[in-house]
Amino acid sequence: MKNYGFLLVFILILSGCTKTLSEEQKDKYITEGKEMALATANKLGSNLSQKMKEGGVKEAVPFCNTMANPLTEEMSKKYNAEIKRTSDKLRNDKNKPNEEENKIIDYYKKALEANKQLEPVVEIDASGNPHFYGPIIMQKKCLACHGSVGKEVSVKTDSLIKSYYSNDKAIGFKEGDLRGIWSITFSN
Ligand code: HEC
Repeated sequence: MKNYGFLLVFILILSGCTKTLSEEQKDKYITEGKEMALATANKLGSNLSQKMKEGGVKEAVPFCNTMANPLTEEMSKKYNAEIKRTSDKLRNDKNKPNEEENKIIDYYKKALEANKQLEPVVEIDASGNPHFYGPIIMQKKCLACHGSVGKEVSVKTDSLIKSYYSNDKAIGFKEGDLRGIWSITFSN
């Protein structure tokens, strides 16, 4: 009996290691991942634009501080997936990247430098779940809070941001830069 037990464990480990995605599955996760990333970006973006209209960065920064992650979680629930935004230049420490996310960020940075198209990545992650990664690129409208201090970001805005995030690294970006990545874990 004991030997069978070992055999079963061995087979389970082996099947875990060899889990791969077919091309059809990959296409499906890419399509779904893109849709979730876009819907979340739109959700955050439309709320942010509203706050900017109402009271400028003075209203929009506290809004991002309290609402960006709850809104992202709301979208995770809606799509039954774990949706995360992360970056190598963090503002909010809660969005910290893991080892694999750091590798993907590096990969996109190199691709951007080489003028290559930034395609989404889908793979089985360490927990055995299908995982989607996609680039987040800086747009002009983002620079009010992520651009250069004294240029797009006023000194006043910078000190407001620093009052929430004393360790802020998410400043000094230019339009077209890699701001970070979407990291979406599917629940199998
Ligand atoms: C009104 C100021 C403001 C604007 C405009 C703004 N952001 Fe942010 N951003 C923040 C704040 C504050 C945080 C930290 C809170 C959070 O989102 O978790 C943040 C966090 C982020 C993060 C999460 C990673 C991290 O560093 O914590 C990403 C990615 C991001 N912003 C991208 C963008 C993009 C892309 C745009 C433009 C479409 C944009 N931001 C526009 C204020 C802003």
